[in-house]
Formats: sequence, structure tokens, C-alpha cells
Amino acid sequence: VPLQPYNSFGIVARAHTLVRVRDEADVQAVLADPQLGPGRKFVLGGGSNIVLTGDVKPVVLKVEIPGRRLLEETPRAWIVEAGAGENWHDFVAWTLEQGYPGLENLSLIPGTVGAAPVQNVGAYGVELQDRFESLDAIDLETGRSFTLDAAQCAFGYRDSVFKHESARPGGYGLAGKALITRVRFRLPRPWKPVLGYLELERRMADDGNRAPSAQQIHDWICAIRRAKLPDPRVTGNAGSFFKNPTVTPEQCSDIIAREPNIVHYPMPDGTVKLAAGWLIDACGWKGKSVGHAGVYEKQALVLVNRGGATGGEVVTLAKAIQTSVYERFGIRLEPEPVVV
Ligand code: EPU
Repeated sequence: VPLQPYNSFGIVARAHTLVRVRDEADVQAVLADPQLGPGRKFVLGGGSNIVLTGDVKPVVLKVEIPGRRLLEETPRAWIVEAGAGENWHDFVAWTLEQGYPGLENLSLIPGTVGAAPVQNVGAYGVELQDRFESLDAIDLETGRSFTLDAAQCAFGYRDSVFKHESARPGGYGLAGKALITRVRFRLPRPWKPVLGYLELERRMADDGNRAPSAQQIHDWICAIRRAKLPDPRVTGNAGSFFKNPTVTPEQCSDIIAREPNIVHYPMPDGTVKLAAGWLIDACGWKGKSVGHAGVYEKQALVLVNRGGATGGEVVTLAKAIQTSVYERFGIRLEPEPVVV
């Protein structure tokens, strides 16, 4: 089965076996199947956070579980549930249309609802964990269903229990071991806008500094993202390719002494976050290519497929960027998508 239509990088690769799952029973049926049941599985959502470097041998479970509904409305919150296969952005737009604001800062993030908790998606001052209630998943070894709350998901910056292997001693991880079927969100009432991001503040100032609605913020975020992030349907990409690194205040002062213009944000825990896009840009990578893989012209943190790129080319480009950032700044950039 060709996987090119199912990964936002548009990399050509094949799956030996691909099964579409539309509900819990479909997953159980695969696990009970004498041929498909045993062995590893590869859970595929929107394919917007993976780099395929070859054919995928484990059975691919393509999650297409639909559904979105209001579960509960209290004076303090709306609790909304969506099937893991729902498109993330369509779900966000639906919540706003229905009158349940709170996810507007996360508009236009590519991928599915089920993939969003895996990397704790975040943008413009809001992370999924800030609006998360719980999720349902199926254990791919035993077929048992289970529910996790936020603490059990162990959310971190672009991180969760679903990104870690449990193989290492004392480790606790569900990577490759679970399939998320449904996710529930807690949208606090009364709604309060999350502004504060420079680009959002600018849009608000242009609009006369009137208190914006959630729909207005949604529209601004969509405009901001469209202006500097490539549309994966046109130019293959997986969003930010590296995480923004954190350094100690001492490391940061050292770098500022050499690079006075470096973009940095002090964090509540005392560390300092650096803009990886700025570091890559400063090394002269913006607009450059290696083979058919390139660095996006308008945002150096995004690697793009210029047409016919292989996963190997993307990985080679990423390594070259990591090397030059390390040589110039002494900082190791960590990739954000999962290399398969
Ligand atoms: N910058 C440059 N050159 C560049 C790119 C960025 O100098 O080529 C500078 C910008 O001027 C800006 C700073 O770097 O001052 C930060 O850039 P931006 O606001 O675009 O945000 P980011 O840190 O690059 C992060 C997330 C994005 C998210 C935005 C908005 C990560 C890895 N990325 O990007 O998330 O949309 O903030 O909140 O944390 C993703 O994870 O896939 C993603 C797109």
C-alpha cells in the first residue's frame, strides 16, 4: 500500500499491510486475527509528524474513528469529546461554531485528534495539556481498553508517555503499545482569550485593541500560520522540525555576549528557551536544499519536500543543520517528528 498520500511530507514509501480502523471493534478484530494479531503495529494518524525513511513492515493501523460531541456542560466548563480520526483543525472549527471556545489558539495545526496528545501540540501560548480532560486507548498487546488522565499522559513540551519506549529499566512508556481511540477536552468557562504573543498583539492593535472573540482569534491565527508555514497539501512538510532548545541563564549570557540579537524567552522555571528557527536562520540555512529536501524560505524551523525527497535526504539535511548549529552555538537541536 503506498503511504505517500498518508504522510504530510509526501515521502514515497509503502506499507506491507494497512488496515483502516473506524471503531474499537475494528482494532479488536485486527488483534484477534491469527495473521495480523501477533507482531508489532504502527499507528498512523494524519501522518503529519513522521519522516518515513523506508517501507513500513509492521501492520499499519490507520485510525479513522469519527465522532464529535458535547459530553457535559457545567458552570465551569464544556467537556467535548472527539474520535481519534477526526481532523484536528476541523474539530477546532466545529467547537467554535457550536459555541465552545478554548481551542482557537490551536487552529490550523495539521493532523488528527488522536495524534494531538502524542506530542502535546501547542501554539501561540496554549498547549493541548491546558485543555485536556482524558483519553481512551487500546492496549495493542492485550486488546484491553483503558483511560488516561492528564497526569498519566505525562505531558511535556512536545512530549508525552506515547513518545517513550518502556524498554529501558524503570522506564514507563507507551510508544508503539497503544492506540488512542477518543480524546476529551475541558474548555473552561467563562472563556478567556490567550493573547500575549507578539504577532497576535500586533493584529489586535491593528484592529483597534477591541476585546477579540474566540472566532476573531481563530481567524488571526489562521492568517498568521498561512503567512509563514507551508500548506502540506502544496509543499510537503511536518511543521517545526526541531524543538526549541532550553539553556541555563549562564549559557544564555555566554551566547548573548557573542550573539547580541539571539531570540530568547525566559521560562517560569528559570531556564531560557531559544528560538531554534533563529539559530538555523543565523547559520544561513533558510532557503537552502540538500538533494530534494530543503529549509523553508519563510520559517527556517520547517523542513520541506521540494518534490521527490526521500526520508534519507530529509534526515541528511537535518543532521547537517544540527552540526552547523552545534559548531556555531554549542547547542544540540533535537528533532521533533518521529523518524520511522
Ligand atoms: N525566527 C527567525 N528565523 C526563522 C524563524 C524564526 O529569526 O527563520 C525567529 C522569529 O523571528 C521569532 C522566533 O524565531 O522571533 C520564533 O519564531 P516563531 O514565532 O515562528 O515560533 P517558533 O518558536 O519557531 C513555535 C512552535 C510552533 C508554533 C509557534 C507559535 C516549536 C518547535 N514550534 O515555533 O509549532 O506554531 O511556536 O506558537 O515549539 C510545530 O510544533 O510543528 C509548530 C509549528
